Amino acid sequence: MKKKLMILGAGGYGRVIAECAELSGQYSEFVFLDDVEPTEQLSYPYYGKLDKVYDYVDEYDIAIAIGDGRIREFWITELEKKGANLPNIIHPNATVSPGAKLGIGTVVMPGAVINTGTLIGKGVIVNTASSIDHDCIVGDYCHVAVGAHLCGTVILDTHIWVGAGSIVIQNIRVCKDCILGAGTVIVKDIDVAGTYVGVPGVRK
Ligand SMILES: CC(C)(COP(=O)(O)OP(=O)(O)OC[C@H]1O[C@@H](n2cnc3c(N)ncnc32)[C@H](O)[C@@H]1OP(=O)(O)O)[C@@H](O)C(=O)NCCC(=O)NCCS
Repeated sequence: MKKKLMILGAGGYGRVIAECAELSGQYSEFVFLDDVEPTEQLSYPYYGKLDKVYDYVDEYDIAIAIGDGRIREFWITELEKKGANLPNIIHPNATVSPGAKLGIGTVVMPGAVINTGTLIGKGVIVNTASSIDHDCIVGDYCHVAVGAHLCGTVILDTHIWVGAGSIVIQNIRVCKDCILGAGTVIVKDIDVAGTYVGVPGVRK
């Protein structure tokens, strides 16, 4: 039987998640929550503010469509405690190796590729046309943005934003709480939290 999905966040990311989930064929009903009432026309009903989710944890699967990793962490932690089902949403045109493992509440967008031996944490965004090669570890609440590439055996700690079109070469480790700016190429391990930009990437 097809299930019902409640999406926390009714912005562009929420609409992409709704579409991924619909195309995956697992869900037949979608509703949005957001603290800001959407002004644009949504394809699915808006049910109210985010804390309304507590009324629905038994009835709906829940997806968190919030770009800020700390807020994603808050909601995933809260909802896990309440026993909510936080599925992985995988677009049918994404490629996820059977040899990869994904934590709960992770989203894999169209054209993304996750290769064998890779471990992805919870609440991770693997965005459009990005790739994560073999044997990587991607920590909880990371975001691998559109067109970014992690080569093989890269280890990302938690809360790392890999900006659009960035590349992390093979065997690199990145410590928690880093931002890799759009188009950055990381060729050395990063041990100090911060924002890194450029080719090769340096701390800003
Ligand atoms: C790195 C980033 C977070 C910095 O944002 P910020 O702190 O607001 O920085 P600013 O825009 O004020 O720029 C500060 C300086 O860094 C430079 N800079 C910013 N982003 C850069 C980047 N990606 N690569 C190289 N230089 C960059 C700016 O040119 C500026 O240089 P200047 O001081 O010589 O003028 C942001 O520019 C970025 O790249 N974000 C990623 C966006 C992205 O990938 N989105 C994907 C959505 S799916």
